Amino acid sequence: MCGITGYIGKNNNAIKVVMDGLESLEYRGYDSSGIAYTNNNKLNVIKEKGKIINLKNNIDFNIKSNLAIGHTRWATHGEPNKVNSHPHQVNKFTIVHNGIIENYIELKEELLKNNYTFKSSTDTEIAVAYIDFIYKKEKDILKTLNYITKVFRGSYALGIICNDDLNNLYAVRKTSPLIIAKGTNENYIASDVPAILKYTNKYMLLDDYEIAKISSDNIEIYNQKLELVTKDTLEFEGTYESSMKNGYEHFMLKEIHEEPNVFKDTINTYLDKDFKNIPGFSKYNNIHIVACGSAYHTGLVGKYLIEKYANIPVYVEVASEYRYKHNFYDEKTLVILVSQSGETADTLACLKKVKEDGIDTLGIVNVVGSSVARESKYVMYTKAGCEIAVATTKAYLAQLTVFSVITMYLTNNKTLIEEISTIPTLIDNLINKDYKPIAKEIYKNKDIFFIGRGIDYSIAMEGSLKLKEISYINSVAYQAGELKHGTISLIEKNTPVIAISTDDTLSEKTISNIKEVKARGAKVIFVTNQNINDNFYDIKIDIPRVNELLQPILTIVPLQLLAYEVAKLNKCDIDKPRNLAKSVTVE
Ligand code: M6R
Repeated sequence: MCGITGYIGKNNNAIKVVMDGLESLEYRGYDSSGIAYTNNNKLNVIKEKGKIINLKNNIDFNIKSNLAIGHTRWATHGEPNKVNSHPHQVNKFTIVHNGIIENYIELKEELLKNNYTFKSSTDTEIAVAYIDFIYKKEKDILKTLNYITKVFRGSYALGIICNDDLNNLYAVRKTSPLIIAKGTNENYIASDVPAILKYTNKYMLLDDYEIAKISSDNIEIYNQKLELVTKDTLEFEGTYESSMKNGYEHFMLKEIHEEPNVFKDTINTYLDKDFKNIPGFSKYNNIHIVACGSAYHTGLVGKYLIEKYANIPVYVEVASEYRYKHNFYDEKTLVILVSQSGETADTLACLKKVKEDGIDTLGIVNVVGSSVARESKYVMYTKAGCEIAVATTKAYLAQLTVFSVITMYLTNNKTLIEEISTIPTLIDNLINKDYKPIAKEIYKNKDIFFIGRGIDYSIAMEGSLKLKEISYINSVAYQAGELKHGTISLIEKNTPVIAISTDDTLSEKTISNIKEVKARGAKVIFVTNQNINDNFYDIKIDIPRVNELLQPILTIVPLQLLAYEVAKLNKCDIDKPRNLAKSVTVE
């Protein structure tokens, strides 16, 4: 989704800082970019379609500037072109925007009646025109921004420059993420921490409807009554280097290699000799898990484990459906929201709705201080660190780890501590195997199937999503027993079928299903922790056998690396797959 950066400072470094920030936010996904910067008290705007390099090629980096805002746009209203790119400028105001102003048509009608005209198809141009319109009446920037928080519906993080006050940079947000960062003689705004890590690790979070007025050496935050509010300064634990590639060809590969430590850090947060930092679950007799994409898939694994071992009914739903459904919950229900970014619009909307209904919530979140973390009654952080690749790997594994811990906690099972200590090495061994020869067998295929039963089906869904999102190969996951009710008609000679079997109680049935596809010519890649040697598969990926509560954490690793190798052979943009964004902040 869109990325915002902004700079104001005495070091006159604005253009470089803002462009560095935009590059750090590339992982969020975008299709055009732009910058507005001051020079000799004049504001200049440059925008370009496509990659940031197109913008960089048009910028003179020798220009000294003390104030700038930049933007990477992921098109929602209007195609990705230069006119629709941000920043948008109307009279004295120039803004960058992340989010969607839902009532922009209504606002546009009002502006048209007041002789405003528009060049772009965006809701953002309406927003900046509306700010200008109100400013003409209020003649005060803070009052104007406060007013628009009461009028704009939808979501927005705005970086704002007003020609009447080039000594300050302004920002305001609702729902879409925005941080304010503190430097020495310079301050910043950004959509996310990586954008400013090269310059500072100190930042504060802006809450909904708050307005920031930022100069080189001062940050003022106002609430909706236009009173000054005090904010905690947070320090990001990682370093700029840790959020960079560290010599790996892709962030995705680097992040997979971090999984042994991510597992360790996440487990250590909640379990040593005893459980710790876990909210009391005893009063809940049913659980709902709500999330999107890969986070939804971890919820499915969580459901399987909690129902089987803790005997508590668990309902799992994707957030974009849950939000609009009639949900059966009461004071005995805990709603768990799972999100790496903590900013996914659908997940956040569910959280708000559930809260309004008075139901308790637990956020399983990776990004510290993100909206889901802040709004949830309880939070369990996944200790994955900064994840840049659009395809989640280490954060997914950390979410699985949290669900394993929750299940152990619910059943007061502390017997696995010894086995847990072996997991990082086992993950590492799986990472160090070569999956390229297997990838070579399948990368030219147009369709690839994943099958499994029970918990293996949930893992198959994630394996399939990983493969399709980065390699663009059509891939579907099926419950192994369901294939013969229709899908098996798609199996022909050499159709790859990746079959997962780690559950002894189901393996005979799964193997029968594998034989059914093998008999129809499928090329079977068998992923298993079982000691089976037979002729129903073409390739076997062995995974170490561990307790079922920990098994998914190992099973997923080869599937992530296989997806990576297939995408690499297909020369895909692995870290930034087309059409996708890291954090989906629109509904
Ligand atoms: O930040 P979130 O965990 O809430 O994101 C949810 C999904 O958008 C995300 O998992 C998505 O499916 C990933 N691209 C999958 O790799």
